[in-house]
Amino acid sequence: MVFLHSQFLHPLLPQGQDSQANQKLGKEISQSGQGYFSLLKQEIEALTEQSSSKNHQLRKQLDAIPRIQEVNQQRSQLQDKMWSYTQASIDNDRDRLIQAYQKHIKGLSQLELNPNLLIPKHQSKVDIHRMPGGYLEEQGDDDFWTGVLYDHGVFLYGIGWLGSLNDELGHTIIEQVLKSHYPEFNPQQILDMGCSVGHSTLPYTQAYPDAQVWGIDLGASLLRYATARANGLGKKVYFAQQNAEQTDFPDHSFDLVVSHILMHEVPNVAKQRVFKESYRLLKTGGIMVHLDSLLFLSPPNPAARYFRDTEVYYNSEPFVGCANLDDLNNLALEAGFAPQNCHLYQVSGYYSQQQGSTQPKWLAFCGVKG
Ligand SMILES: C[S@@+](CC[C@H](N)C(=O)[O-])C[C@H]1O[C@@H](n2cnc3c(N)ncnc32)[C@H](O)[C@@H]1O
Repeated sequence: MVFLHSQFLHPLLPQGQDSQANQKLGKEISQSGQGYFSLLKQEIEALTEQSSSKNHQLRKQLDAIPRIQEVNQQRSQLQDKMWSYTQASIDNDRDRLIQAYQKHIKGLSQLELNPNLLIPKHQSKVDIHRMPGGYLEEQGDDDFWTGVLYDHGVFLYGIGWLGSLNDELGHTIIEQVLKSHYPEFNPQQILDMGCSVGHSTLPYTQAYPDAQVWGIDLGASLLRYATARANGLGKKVYFAQQNAEQTDFPDHSFDLVVSHILMHEVPNVAKQRVFKESYRLLKTGGIMVHLDSLLFLSPPNPAARYFRDTEVYYNSEPFVGCANLDDLNNLALEAGFAPQNCHLYQVSGYYSQQQGSTQPKWLAFCGVKG
């Protein structure tokens, strides 16, 4: 079995999937990643034996190797194949999905959409991860298809390592950051910024059952889906279409403000605004945690660095190349957090840890509002 977990087929996901075809695609994704890194390692060793290259020289040298050019193209092709495959499973179950969506969205008042929301150009201009139509695709007032595409696509892309509900990141902040480092902390008002379909948002309802949990995102289709999905899974979350850089919530609204893999997908100017907004929204004593991939924020070796930097071109990740740890610390100080209240935790993933891995996978940047 290639997938660490099977996807939990809640009603908003395509049913009747071909599990053999899923396995075949998962294997291709997994082998392509492993093959890519061993090729890079081999070529980097050969190059660094010849001379001690600086990072930008190494990048140019790697870019010039025909086999690397070829596998870089294959990275994009495989990503496109994964999305087409996901779309085909959705198309096969279209009528039932519409009924499931209508059933689970009906009568719900926990969704606030804002058709007049000004969408930042850094999001409207790109299809991040080469996802067709991007996060903001929407055809009509009832559109929830971007959500289905993201929910199923992310599971295949992550080959099940994010858990059967794609919820590893939420559990990781809760268990490896909050419960480990702030065990007395019991937030009552929680905000998840850039929540997408709520994968990481839902675990907070379980960990803090008395809390009111909010998820905000720019995409209306994602949020409609998030609302119906949460309902289908029996969880109560308030979702709102808002810009995390400038929300509508009053000052001091939340005890906990979190984001999961938002940082590497926005430019530095947006990160700066998100940190300021997090500070404004927190109550005194409240905690901000922005979690992202270690590989993206602080690539641990030259192969990882090359992979990270070339994600810009081959996986439509325009801002990943400028993601930088030191910047986050500066942004937190600029936003108002005191230096002694800023902490960085390197943590393994919630599900990877259950497999016995202690290898750091995620970076959680925390600020406590003094
Ligand atoms: C990688 S996805 C996040 C996934 C999600 N947090 C999770 O853990 O499953 C990034 C999300 O951030 C949203 N986003 C990007 N910029 C944003 C902004 N300024 N305000 C709110 N959401 C934003 C995108 O629409 C997208 O849904």
